[in-house]
Amino acid sequence: MPARRNKTADDITAEVLQRFGETPEPRLRQIMLGLIKHLHAFVREVELTEAEWFQAIETLTEAGRMCSDKRQEFILFSDTLGVSMVVDLISHRKPDGATESTVFGPFHRLGAPELPAGGNIAPLDRTGTPTLVSGRVLDLDGKPIKGAVLDVWQAHSIGLYDSQDAILDGLHMRGKFHTDAEGRYLVRTVRPVNYPIPSDGPVGRMLRATGRHPWRPAHIHFVVSADGYEPVTTHIFDRTDEYLGSDAVFAVKDSLICDFVRHDSPTAEAERLGIEPPFLTTDFDFHLKPASRSDTAVLDAQERLAALGAAS
Ligand SMILES: [Fe+2]
Repeated sequence: MPARRNKTADDITAEVLQRFGETPEPRLRQIMLGLIKHLHAFVREVELTEAEWFQAIETLTEAGRMCSDKRQEFILFSDTLGVSMVVDLISHRKPDGATESTVFGPFHRLGAPELPAGGNIAPLDRTGTPTLVSGRVLDLDGKPIKGAVLDVWQAHSIGLYDSQDAILDGLHMRGKFHTDAEGRYLVRTVRPVNYPIPSDGPVGRMLRATGRHPWRPAHIHFVVSADGYEPVTTHIFDRTDEYLGSDAVFAVKDSLICDFVRHDSPTAEAERLGIEPPFLTTDFDFHLKPASRSDTAVLDAQERLAALGAAS
C-alpha cells in the first residue's frame, strides 16, 4: 500500500505499524507494534503539545545525564511509575507458598563481602538499633536448602545507601550469607529506616509536580538464590512503618511484612555476638520454587541490573 501524502494521524500510525510489521524477529515485532500502537494512542488521547513533547525530551535527556555507576534515574522512573512492579509480577508468577518478589531498585552493588552466619553488615553504623534477622531458606515442601546464598543490602540508619554517602568510601550495609545444613541464615544489622528516594533529579520533580511524596517504608533488600531453584529478589518490611500504605515505588506486599521485636534483656545469641540490649530480632523464612527453563533469562536480567549499579 503506497503511503498517502495528505496524512491524518491515523494514516501516520498505520504507516508506522506497517513499516515495523516487517520486523523479522517475532518477539521484537510484537513489542514494537504494541509500543507504537499505545504510544500514538497516548499522544492523541492527551493531545500532546509541541512544548510538552519537548519537555519530555528534556526530561529523558536529563535522566540519562544523571546516570552513573552510583545513580540510576531510569530505574527510579520505572519504579515510581509502577512499571517495575508490573514487570516483576509478570516475570515472577509464584506458586502458592513461594516467597513473593518485589522491586530490585537502583541501589544494589556488586562485590558485597562474604560474611559468616551472624556477620555484621552495619559495622560503621553508630546510630541504628542492633538487629538480628534470622530464618531459613526452604523449598516449597518446607525442606531446608543448604548453601543458599542471601545477597543482602540496606540503607544506613541515617537513610542513605553507601553509594549516596559523600563521606563513605566503599561498600557498607551489604553482605552475602550462606545457609547451613538446616537452611538457616543469620544477619546482623541495624533496624531499617524509611527513607526518601533521590529527589534531586527529574523523578523528584515529577513527584513534586504530581503531589506525591518520595518516601519508602523501612525495608531490607534480599536476593536469595540456590542451585536448582529460581532466585527471588525481594525485601522484608517493618510492620510499624507509616509508609507501608503509600510506598513511593509500590513495592509492599503483605507476605513480606515482618515484626521487629524489641529485647531489653540479653539472649544467648545476642551475648554470643556481643550485642548489648536494647536490640531487635525478626524472623523470616524464604521459600524458593524449583528452577524452570526461563531462569537463565531471570538471572541474566538480574545480573545486568546489578551491573548498572556496580561500583567502577
Ligand atoms: Fe531500598
